[in-house]
Amino acid sequence: MPSGSQLPPPPSWSLLGCGALGGVFATLLTQSGQPTQLLLRERHRATLHPVVDFTGLDGQHTLIAIPRAFVADRPAIRRLLVMTKADQVIPALLPLLGKLDKQVPIVLLHNGMGVAERVVELFPDNPVIAGVTSHGALQQGHFVFRHTGRGETWLGPVNEAGRQFAPLADRLAQALGQASWDEQILTRQWHKLAINCAINPLTALYRIKNGELTGPRFADTLQQICIEVADVMNAEGITTTAEELARRVQSVAGLTADNYSSMHQDLEQGKETEIEAITGFLLARAQAHGIMVPVNQGLYQAIKDRSQDQG
Ligand code: NAP
Ligand code: PAF
Repeated sequence: MPSGSQLPPPPSWSLLGCGALGGVFATLLTQSGQPTQLLLRERHRATLHPVVDFTGLDGQHTLIAIPRAFVADRPAIRRLLVMTKADQVIPALLPLLGKLDKQVPIVLLHNGMGVAERVVELFPDNPVIAGVTSHGALQQGHFVFRHTGRGETWLGPVNEAGRQFAPLADRLAQALGQASWDEQILTRQWHKLAINCAINPLTALYRIKNGELTGPRFADTLQQICIEVADVMNAEGITTTAEELARRVQSVAGLTADNYSSMHQDLEQGKETEIEAITGFLLARAQAHGIMVPVNQGLYQAIKDRSQDQG
């Protein structure tokens, strides 16, 4: 590099996984004045990349240009936000092995658990940060995104190097309205997992909206799910009760009454579900502690069977 040559500064954020949630976050980050680039899969190289068509919470429609890049072209990366589905995180990150500077923080924002530990194994020197968000997002077409619900976002460290990155939450807050840092992000991930274990498989199997879970039809099943999840959480050192989990599940099912859960949508659209990272993770931790979780085991198997029938 000739001395004195000036490279443009890298974008503030590089976003890997530009689906529903990624498209909304990329738009909000760009609108907040934080330059963001989309890291797309190689197969998108030949496709037209028009400006992003974004509909905000207020129904306001905006066209916004967000630059795209491909990992093979070695784009400069300052902070990496991974917003794929849980089972896509590792395949999405693999092309970056050996190409990502050690100081680049990797922020993971998928649902489910068990993936972050594998990211730390693959990138042992990078700061790894996990996030939990309850924003709602839909993808309505090719680079057409709708923000459907304002939620809370929490970030926290997965490894030691991640501990220095609390200011990232402030940067996200500039775009999202709120985002906070929590050193105990694992506890928040477990509580989100509990909600997903309860709402996602049932709504997908019975082909119902979230709100139908608040009626008496599912009361016993939900209680059993919560008892089993609470047992595993307590064994993991996350103090909770089945009653607390049930209250949280009822609250989320009520607040999202008119929504179809992500697992319902995935199954209906013939896509892979996140059952492995949600109930599958619970079953693995239950087995490690010698805890029986028959209701969750049954739901896991039923989702796997349904996915196979459709495949
Ligand atoms: P999605 O619409 O399926 O988006 C996933 C995106 O990842 C797709 O656009 C896909 O791109 C991309 N991708 C997959 N593999 C990739 C790879 N190897 N390299 C680069 N990009 C890759 O999913 P989503 O609804 O945004 O959800 C993402 C995560 O956030 C999930 O864990 C979900 O549970 C969680 N979440 C979602 C919401 C929501 O409202 N949507 C809310 C809270 C949490 P292609 O176009 O190439 O397939
Ligand atoms: O996966 C989902 O659909 C969401 O996390 C939730 C909270 C269950 C609402 O639909």
